[in-house]
Amino acid sequence: MPGGGCGVSAGSIPISAANGETPTVSGSRRVHVITWGCQMNVYDSDRMADVLAAAGYRQAADPGDADLIILNTCHIREHAAEAGCVAQAAGAEILARAPFVDLVFGPQTYHRLPSLLARVEVEGKAIDTEFPAEPKFDFLPEQRAFAAGPVAFLAIQEGCDKFCSFCVVPYTRGAEQSRPAAAVLAEARQLVASGAREITLLGQNVNAWRGAGPDARDWTLARLLRALAEIPGLLRLRYTTSHPRDMTEALIAVHGEIPALMPFLHLPVQSGSDAVLTRMNRRHRAADYLRIVERLRAVRPDIALSSDFIVGHPGESEADFAATLALVRTVGFAQAFSFKYSPRPGTPAAVAPGQVPEEEKKARLAMLQALLREQQSRFNEMMVGRELPVLLTGPGRHPGQLVGRSPYLQPVHLDASRAWLGSIRSVRILAAHPNSLAAVSLQPQEHAAA
Ligand code: 5AD
Ligand code: SF4
Repeated sequence: MPGGGCGVSAGSIPISAANGETPTVSGSRRVHVITWGCQMNVYDSDRMADVLAAAGYRQAADPGDADLIILNTCHIREHAAEAGCVAQAAGAEILARAPFVDLVFGPQTYHRLPSLLARVEVEGKAIDTEFPAEPKFDFLPEQRAFAAGPVAFLAIQEGCDKFCSFCVVPYTRGAEQSRPAAAVLAEARQLVASGAREITLLGQNVNAWRGAGPDARDWTLARLLRALAEIPGLLRLRYTTSHPRDMTEALIAVHGEIPALMPFLHLPVQSGSDAVLTRMNRRHRAADYLRIVERLRAVRPDIALSSDFIVGHPGESEADFAATLALVRTVGFAQAFSFKYSPRPGTPAAVAPGQVPEEEKKARLAMLQALLREQQSRFNEMMVGRELPVLLTGPGRHPGQLVGRSPYLQPVHLDASRAWLGSIRSVRILAAHPNSLAAVSLQPQEHAAA
């Protein structure tokens, strides 16, 4: 299955009824959605469930009980695409290769699901991988069909115009599009009313968001964050994924002004070498990235950083790779995702000279990941003994335990009553693990731990 850190979706494949019946839109139908990929895919899957709920579909917890199974997949790297098939890039091929698939649709057409399913009933098979002129957001149900948990995603921007040499997103998700501020604010209010306390704004290039404001002015993400921070009951805000080029001074400044904006930023740099960054068409240099980090730390000294890295992009020499290690040492990351370069058909890098041998990519990735793991462990260990506000999000590993989120996106385990779910509590960190923290509550509990 495609692992965490992958940033895009490329397709969705509803497959025929598990019980062999043709899916129809009726009150007794049940849908099961399987999601492979990034947070945007998780958001899309939830919205597909909303669209289908409005058309009479209930959720099936088990695929065996479903009349309709949707597989929402990812195309970003070869490994990810292998795991499933990919609608936007290979829709017709999927229908030919996988006879059990009845319908293939792309990430921009799932608002049409009810009519697509009706077409399947008449025609047997259907495919819709268009980039329609009308944005799907205008057609999605206003109300969510299901209650939000304490942490929720909200897509505010989609697509990308940046065309990095290695990346399929501009081809699979299409051109950059921002939702209007009023729509974002309305969805945020609704999420809070149904239980969300923390909202992560999503977009392939989220900090390029630029939308019409309710005051008819052109708003930036900085302005939108300020407005969102005023929603009562919305305690925490995050946004992901950002591009260094769109990290404006105004946006950086907001990190020092809004307490609800959490001190953690995922800001992919991909490489520490200017030669590679140029070949990648990233349109920023290593020094630009370091300057942004410096400015962020000036306004929010405790801000923790996360990044994506690619090793072995075509033309990456040993010296280039050493520059990436040097950048990592300079910044000090709290968390990161790193990948071997994976040639994607149709992207310029796939046919560029200087492809790096697989063995070399493997060795570089192992070296980079060792360094990043060490930094993450060090970051987690720094928390031991500290008092942190933790948003309790779900049941923990053991009975009587809950898991929560630190401001720095670390999972935190502690003994606590379920009555605390959805609240922020002050805890003392007792121990650090590579991927999580253990803590004890500093506040008396109203109920005995259940
Ligand atoms: N090969 C390897 N990694 C890739 N990514 C995107 N495209 C590729 C590719 N062709 C990584 C980038 C991006 C993250 C979501 O996936 O690091 O930021
Ligand atoms: Fe892909 Fe580059 Fe756009 Fe990110 S900025 S989605 S890496 S093309």
